[in-house]
Amino acid sequence: MTLTQGLFITIEGTEGMGKSTVIASLSEFLKEKGFDYLLTREPGGTEIAEKIRQVILAHYDETMQAETELLLYFAGRLQHVQTVVLPAKSAGKIVISDRFTDASFAYQGGGRQIPVEKIRLLEQHFINDLQPDLTLLLDAPIEVGLNRIASRGEKDRIEIENIAFFERVRESYHQRAREYPNRFRLIDAGGSVEEVQEKVHHIFNEFFSK
Ligand code: TMP
Repeated sequence: MTLTQGLFITIEGTEGMGKSTVIASLSEFLKEKGFDYLLTREPGGTEIAEKIRQVILAHYDETMQAETELLLYFAGRLQHVQTVVLPAKSAGKIVISDRFTDASFAYQGGGRQIPVEKIRLLEQHFINDLQPDLTLLLDAPIEVGLNRIASRGEKDRIEIENIAFFERVRESYHQRAREYPNRFRLIDAGGSVEEVQEKVHHIFNEFFSK
């Protein structure tokens, strides 16, 4: 089934919230319902944007300036929006992106404490204020996520940040959810995989029955 309008759905959350599991369950759900969908991610989603992702997440002897980091995320985003998100949406597809601009407000705004106005400016000027139709925010205490990722391999430049950084990220996500209640759905990611999947299915059934 191809929609006339297309839809843009994003998945957000701090580290170790189980985004991948939710995305897998979501694609299963959309496949069953016969929807035409596309899975993508940020940072990344295109050949160039994936290169930018490597630059962002690598470790360096010098400190990356917070604004350098912000601009790199937006450089990748512009490329991703123009070459993947908008064309697929125009073709009537459901585009599901593992993270989008809310992550910049949460990580660079909250975590790195860059004034929100600077991020707004980039959002308006470079991605034409593109907003998701639906955003699933996976939420649980920071320690829960950090424990889950503790056993994974080498950590990237963002994952090595301290708890206070991630607490600010989480709080900024909550703030975004309060600001945009129409598109945000907060999901308690602390439960079992089955519980989280059930919540996601419930949200989607409700969303698509509108
Ligand atoms: P990932 O873990 O979802 O692959 O994302 C990589 C990291 O990038 C993750 O720590 C969140 C971070 N991030 C930002 O800091 N700002 C952004 O705008 C995006 C999209 C991701």
